[in-house]
Amino acid sequence: METPTLTDSVKYVIHNKALIQQHMAQHRSTWQPEQSASTLHANSSLVETFIRVRPLLDKDHACGAFSLIDVQEPRTLHFTQPLVRALGGRFSTKSFKASSVFGSEVDNDAVYNGMRVPHAVQECLAFKTRELSILAYGQTGTGKTYSTTALEDRVVQQIWTAVKQDSHHSVFIEAFEIRGNAAFDLLSDPPLAPVKVLVTGASDVQYSGLSRHEAPSLPDLLDYIGRAKDLRLTRSTVKNSASSRSHSIIRLHICWKETS
Ligand SMILES: Nc1ncnc2c1ncn2[C@@H]1O[C@H](COP(=O)(O)OP(=O)(O)OP(=O)(O)O)[C@@H](O)[C@H]1O
Ligand SMILES: [Mg+2]
Repeated sequence: METPTLTDSVKYVIHNKALIQQHMAQHRSTWQPEQSASTLHANSSLVETFIRVRPLLDKDHACGAFSLIDVQEPRTLHFTQPLVRALGGRFSTKSFKASSVFGSEVDNDAVYNGMRVPHAVQECLAFKTRELSILAYGQTGTGKTYSTTALEDRVVQQIWTAVKQDSHHSVFIEAFEIRGNAAFDLLSDPPLAPVKVLVTGASDVQYSGLSRHEAPSLPDLLDYIGRAKDLRLTRSTVKNSASSRSHSIIRLHICWKETS
């Protein structure tokens, strides 16, 4: 396995592992009790933020890495970092709150349910809400593609299980990627046709030139998603051998079929 080159700050953290872990243990003893998850859900807002901690990978273990993160369920993450490197041995812990925090041992199914995506998708299918968007944010190698791919799979399966029970819905898909200021269609023929993103009002965005495809079956829908993923630009970076080099957006439209 290739050992990555370590920056001075990473070397410093590894060298001070014992002191840092002592600091983290001391910090844990100061934690206040958290609100229960059911109270949180009752207060949920229009936009919810979730944090997922990526487990350490083999290549992290190979260079002696250890976690600087403590998860306090259900919604707080504590992150420890060196404070003043020149003085040595000083560390600080910052705490962040989200709707829920998922530790590195939490699997994709638990994340899907913990984010209450099944409920949100259900609301869309019942036309109680018009739109549901899931976005992933984080630095390279933190698991955005890993998590969103798993969420996409589950959303698609859930939608299909629901719509196949009646003949009143049609499902359409659009997919494009944004590279810098330009956007490209991931499902056009020929592929990568330019897409113009136009903001026409405070909350109205139009995608001029973007192709839309009806998916008559689940395999068709999965095939479209697979094609879009294969076309998406990826490249190897220091931190991620399969790094996504663009922002990809997959849009599913569920339409009510007009009947006589
Ligand atoms: N929860 C997880 N459990 C196990 N492995 C994970 C998890 N999250 C991410 N990984 C692994 O970590 C590596 C980086 O993940 P991923 O490619 O999803 O990062 P990314 O945030 O999309 O990065 P980039 O911005 O470079 O595209 C991959 O090898 C992936 O399989
Ligand atoms: Mg990625």
